[in-house]
Amino acid sequence: MQKQGYSRTAVILHWLLAVSIFFLFISSWWMLGLPLPSKEMQFRAFPFQLHKNIGITLVLVIALLLYVRFKHRPAPVTSTAMKPWMHKLATVDHIIIYLLILATCVSGYLSSAHTRWDTVVWWVLEMPRIAEANEDMNEFYSDIHLWTAWALLGVVAVHISGAIYHAFLNDGIVRRMMRW
Ligand code: HEM
Ligand code: HEM
Repeated sequence: MQKQGYSRTAVILHWLLAVSIFFLFISSWWMLGLPLPSKEMQFRAFPFQLHKNIGITLVLVIALLLYVRFKHRPAPVTSTAMKPWMHKLATVDHIIIYLLILATCVSGYLSSAHTRWDTVVWWVLEMPRIAEANEDMNEFYSDIHLWTAWALLGVVAVHISGAIYHAFLNDGIVRRMMRW
């Protein structure tokens, strides 16, 4: 039988991406709700490092996902329930998701690069210092980070609405990302 959907690696990476992004959103409220760091209170350090670690790793995850999905291209969607505009919407939505993930990661990194806190990826790999601490630049990139993150949430909402629509139709599209 011809392979219908995505390769196993693509499916695993897709779900790793989805779970990580939900985690980054939910944990960011907890992270920012913690008291500002002082000598006695360093609670913020761990969730910030964790957020940055996961965010930076996601750049590798999307690079790998793009590589495997182009190396083993999934068979085209054959569902007759899909009108041409739906195909276009899905493709455009996927491209915007990739671009917004990248923009969110880059702006988050640039925001944190303008603070006095270093980034040590997974507490092992020290990232080079690319900028001096600068409150204005930190805020500038932090605003971009916030807006790109919310825009990402918007396109992901469209994406998940599409997935729920196909789940109700039971036309095999959701199964493409559930099995391999
Ligand atoms: C933060 C959450 C999510 C992100 C960032 C995300 C991202 C993506 C991306 C970038 C693609 C395109 C893959 C490609 O062809 O290059 C994709 C495909 C897909 N996603 Fe998601 N996804 C998320 C959540 C979900 C959820 C919750 C579901 C199901 C309920 C889902 C179901 C699917 C399906 C079925 C496809 C394949 C569509 C097709 O065959 O054309 N995704 N996702
Ligand atoms: C797709 C990946 C990412 C998502 C969805 C995400 C999401 C978020 C959200 C929702 C916030 C709270 C925004 C606010 O209320 O101000 C936040 C804050 C933050 N994120 Fe991310 N983030 C991602 C990647 C990264 C990366 C790669 C870094 C740095 C290496 C990073 C560093 C930060 C920092 C330092 C904050 C604290 C507030 C600020 O200065 O902007 N994020 N993130």
